Amino acid sequence: MDADGFKDFAKEMTDYIANYLENIRDRRVLPTVEPGYMKPLLPSEAPQAPEKWEDIMSDIERVIMPGVTHWHSPRFHAYFPTAQSYPAIVADMLSGAIACIGFTWMASPACTELEVLMLDWLGKMLELPNEFLASSGGKGGGVIQGTASEATLVALLGAKAKKIRQVKEEHPDMTDNDIIAKLVAYASCQAHSSVERAGLLGGVKFRLLDVDSKYKLRGDTLAEAIRQDREKGLIPFYAVATLGTTCSCAFDKLDELGPVCNREDVWIHVDAAYAGSAFICPEFRYLLKGIETADSFNFNPHKWMLVNFDCSTMWLKDPTYVINAFNVDPLYLKHDQQGSAPDYRHWQIPLGRRFRALKLWFVLRLYGVENLQKYIRNHVTQAHEFEAHVKSDSRFEIVAEVILGLVCFRLKGSNDINEMLLKRINGAGYIHLVPSKINDTYFLRLAICSRFSESQDIDNSWREIKLRADELLEEQSVTK
Ligand SMILES: Cc1ncc(COP(=O)(O)O)c(C=O)c1O
Repeated sequence: MDADGFKDFAKEMTDYIANYLENIRDRRVLPTVEPGYMKPLLPSEAPQAPEKWEDIMSDIERVIMPGVTHWHSPRFHAYFPTAQSYPAIVADMLSGAIACIGFTWMASPACTELEVLMLDWLGKMLELPNEFLASSGGKGGGVIQGTASEATLVALLGAKAKKIRQVKEEHPDMTDNDIIAKLVAYASCQAHSSVERAGLLGGVKFRLLDVDSKYKLRGDTLAEAIRQDREKGLIPFYAVATLGTTCSCAFDKLDELGPVCNREDVWIHVDAAYAGSAFICPEFRYLLKGIETADSFNFNPHKWMLVNFDCSTMWLKDPTYVINAFNVDPLYLKHDQQGSAPDYRHWQIPLGRRFRALKLWFVLRLYGVENLQKYIRNHVTQAHEFEAHVKSDSRFEIVAEVILGLVCFRLKGSNDINEMLLKRINGAGYIHLVPSKINDTYFLRLAICSRFSESQDIDNSWREIKLRADELLEEQSVTK
């Protein structure tokens, strides 16, 4: 493809994208295809001779779209949102064009330097303590990871390296293996599955602790677990506080957990994958109380801050432990400026990394903080509008406090009836929800996800849920 062909193709694609997104509301949110649907639509081998880009364009609606779940439809309410915006899409085009691999500063200085600066911009937007910022002149700083799961694992590996070193200083006779066998980490039983998985990948024990009646992990629960484990001869080294759990958007008591961890010399990592974006609004920053006690903090602008996947921002007060944990230094990666700017390869698991800071830069500049704040507030307002609908119907109940853009609700009654309701809702394909369960109570989750979502959409989604509930309850009363 030559440059003229690229320009034509890209223009056509830009039109297609804008059309797709602006009319996404008209599409069925869930596809109806069966596994294997695509095989008969494509040849079994790659073409020998080049095709025309126009052929690809015409295959998008024929081959791809029938199997797409439309995550950006205002009728998509499953999981948590994944972000998307025009500035971020354009930034990804430029990132694709520069196509550098910024593993060291030298490998593409702009890639590293923009990331350092953007993480400072963003950290200031959240009012993170100065110690997390590169501009503080201390050790701290931020990095873009691919996902929150990676951030949790990276922090765990840093904490593990730190604790092994500390214990060895006190007990030089102990081997790494002796120490690792005794390490124990903690999180709430409501933490995301990636937290427990970080323990498996890191080869350490992980204890998932009970929560209070509002699904928060409390300081005294953690303190007691640490006490019990020390009594057994174990070595507590890492804890994860979740701000905005996946099941119900509950907030662990960071201001209680942090002091316990600081006192016990346990690394505390904060996972605010979804909720973190809300902290750009001063009125939600109370949820971040205790952040000054944290060793590392992470959230996903790729969830709720209009930056396309993948952009999971992580800050460390002292990245040295992470850097040392992964430091393998072959000659071909060394460079003359080593030590004067971060070499991000030491801050992450893979070596290669894309120029992801461009997405943040474009989004922050083209929206401005005030429009990003408006965006968050608008979603929270819509969640409260949906909450009010649920409360207005005595057949339903709210399951967890609505704080941000997630509403957990259920029909009063058995788990079975709620499972049947969800099956009907998703079967009709007009809206899409996923369920969750806490303490054996099954409920439905409605997340405000789309950047196109308006109050009218929320009213429509509620109407659909009521309709399916009416049908179900009617059928149930006839069969009784
Ligand atoms: C609280 C929490 N932590 C971690 C994750 C995992 O995020 P990622 O896909 O970026 O690894 C999620 C995903 O929804 C989440 O809600």
